[in-house]
Amino acid sequence: MNKQPIGPFDLWQETMTALTRGGLLLCTAGADGKSNPMTIGWMTGGVIWGKPILEVLVRPSRYSFSRLEQNAEFTVNVMPREFVEAIQICGSASGRTTDKLAETRMTATPAQEVKVSLIEEAVISYECRVVHTNEVVPQRLEQGIVTTFYPHGDFHRVYFGEVLAACADADAKARLAGWLS
Ligand SMILES: Cc1cc2nc3c(=O)[nH]c(=O)nc-3n(C[C@H](O)[C@H](O)[C@H](O)COP(=O)(O)O)c2cc1C
Repeated sequence: MNKQPIGPFDLWQETMTALTRGGLLLCTAGADGKSNPMTIGWMTGGVIWGKPILEVLVRPSRYSFSRLEQNAEFTVNVMPREFVEAIQICGSASGRTTDKLAETRMTATPAQEVKVSLIEEAVISYECRVVHTNEVVPQRLEQGIVTTFYPHGDFHRVYFGEVLAACADADAKARLAGWLS
C-alpha cells in the first residue's frame, strides 16, 4: 500500500463529496476478523470529547450491525468513482450470504490501529474505534423523518468512532475528482 498518513479531517471536503454520491464503504469485522464492506450514505464527523470522531448509522437488520457488536471497530473507505459497480454490490448484497470482497475483487489490507481491514483500492481510509453508541429514538425524532425513513422500524444505532489513524493516496484529490462530475 502506497498511502501516506493524513490528519483526520485533511481531506474532509473530498470525503463529504464522495459520501453524498454514495461512494463510501464501511468495513467491519466480527469475532472472526473477516472484513465485510457495506455502502454507507450517512456519516458525520467532528470533534467530541477532544477527539476526532466519525459517526456512522447502521440499522440492526444489517450483517454489519452484528459484526460491529462483536468487534467495536470500523474503517471508512472512500472509493474512486470507477468502483461504482462494487459500491452497488456492497450496498445491496449482505455479507451473511455473499463474500463481498471476493465478489467485487477488492482487496483487504491490514490497518495500523484496528483489527478491521482497510480496502486497498480506496483513495482515503479512516481507522476508528467505537467510543460510544446511541440509538435513534422514534419518540424524539421529527415525525416526518420517522415516516420517510423508518416505515418498517429498524431504527439505526449510531456508532461514534474515534479516528485513530487516517491515510490517503498522494493524488487523492485528483483520484476523487470523478465524483464531482
Ligand atoms: C448509497 C447507499 C447508502 C447506504 N447507506 C446506509 C447507511 O448509512 N446505513 C445502513 O445501515 N445501511 C445503508 N445502506 C444499505 C446497506 O449498504 C445494505 O443494506 C447492505 O446490503 C448491507 O450489507 P450487510 O448486510 O453486509 O451489512 C446504504 C445503501 C446504499 C446503496
